[in-house]
Amino acid sequence: MNSADFRRHAHDVVDWMADYLDGVEEFPVKAQVRPGEIAGRLPQAPPEAAEPMEEILGDFRSLIVPGMTHWQHPKFFAYFQANSSRPSVLAEMLTATLAAQCMIWDTSPAATELEERMMGWLRLMIGLPEGFVGSIQDTASTATLCAILAARERVSQFAVNESGMSDAGVFTAYCSTETHSSIEKDVKIAGIGRANLRKIAVDSEFGIDPEALESAIAADVAAGRRPVCVVATLGTTGVSGFDPLRAVGEVCDRHGIWLHVDAAWAGSALLLPEQRWMIDGVEYADSFVFNPHKWLFTNFDCSAFFVRDPAALVRTFEILPEYLKTRDGAAVTNFRDWGVPLGRRFRALKLWFVIRSYGVDGLRRMIRGHIDLAQELAATVDGSEDFELLRPPVLSLFCFRYRPKGMDEQGLDEANERLLHAVNDSGKLYLTHTRINGVYAIRFVVGQTATEPRHVREAWQTVQELARLTAAAGR
Ligand SMILES: Cc1ncc(COP(=O)(O)O)c(C=O)c1O
Repeated sequence: MNSADFRRHAHDVVDWMADYLDGVEEFPVKAQVRPGEIAGRLPQAPPEAAEPMEEILGDFRSLIVPGMTHWQHPKFFAYFQANSSRPSVLAEMLTATLAAQCMIWDTSPAATELEERMMGWLRLMIGLPEGFVGSIQDTASTATLCAILAARERVSQFAVNESGMSDAGVFTAYCSTETHSSIEKDVKIAGIGRANLRKIAVDSEFGIDPEALESAIAADVAAGRRPVCVVATLGTTGVSGFDPLRAVGEVCDRHGIWLHVDAAWAGSALLLPEQRWMIDGVEYADSFVFNPHKWLFTNFDCSAFFVRDPAALVRTFEILPEYLKTRDGAAVTNFRDWGVPLGRRFRALKLWFVIRSYGVDGLRRMIRGHIDLAQELAATVDGSEDFELLRPPVLSLFCFRYRPKGMDEQGLDEANERLLHAVNDSGKLYLTHTRINGVYAIRFVVGQTATEPRHVREAWQTVQELARLTAAAGR
């Protein structure tokens, strides 16, 4: 493709992008395709001959777009959002064009120095104490893995890095029963073993019980095992539970255990001074992660990973072959050793665009707006005769179920599962579920960039209509 063709196609693509974002509401939120349907329309083998870009773009529109779930749809209320924004998309276009591999300072000084500054801005924005420094990782899963590996090395005095696990004894890690599945995955990868992850009971508000945590740690220490780290969650995925950071921090402090804080979703709400209650006790934390790619209008992937002792992190990952040695190596930050991959995307650019283009105040207003919308709808649900609020909103997530009279618990579970499928098959909105104390619960999360009050109102209208229809059909 020559420059003139590139320019022409790029203009077409930008027009498509702008139209898409303007009209994303017209698509079904969740892709309405059956398993294998898209694959069945793709050739088994790659083309031998070059194909014209017009055709490729045409197939993108006719084949790929209908098979997409539209995460930027204003009625996406499922999972946690991966929200984005136009300034972020512009930055991603530039990042793709520069196509820089920012593994070390030398390979793009601006990328490294902007990343350092953006992490500094984010720290100020979310109210983390001085002393936390960080890097951008692809996901919270990766960031937590890095934290666990650094914690393991701190406990073993870097012996595992040298000699492996054979003489290391039994390591243990701790989280609550509500913790995200990525923690268990990371514990498996780190060689600690799933059986040595203690999932501690939660209280009625879904926060970890610090006394049960203390007892589990004491029992492990008494048995000669080696506690590596505690992962505390702010904003659990199922129901927005919060571990009591101060109490957990005090336990970690008493036992000298690394405390990692997973605030993947809720961290963005720390922009709001009135939500800082959740980080009371954060001075005990050794590491902290939150995802601007969830709720800070910044394209996936962008996970902000802070540590208090970067030297421990770097020592965990450091490896310096001759070909990576540089003249300024000692004087600059080289993010290659702040995590698993050597190669790094230029992710700081989109944060820079987003933060400057909205201003912190604009970002605050949008997040506050989401919280208000969730609170208002939850109040409506609570006041509705046929529905039950199973988990009141904390930040912008709440859980509910349809509860017509005269149905037993199993019938209610089945009716709500049918309702969820009917809602998602309608294409009008997208919701996901969890279980609360065994009960099937529908989650509702507000956090899409383009969501306005009317979208929430219409979503509730659809849920009510489909609840009645599916209940009638199920009888
Ligand atoms: C609390 C929590 N932690 C971690 C994760 C994993 O995030 P990521 O996809 O960035 O690895 C999620 C994902 O939703 C989450 O809700």
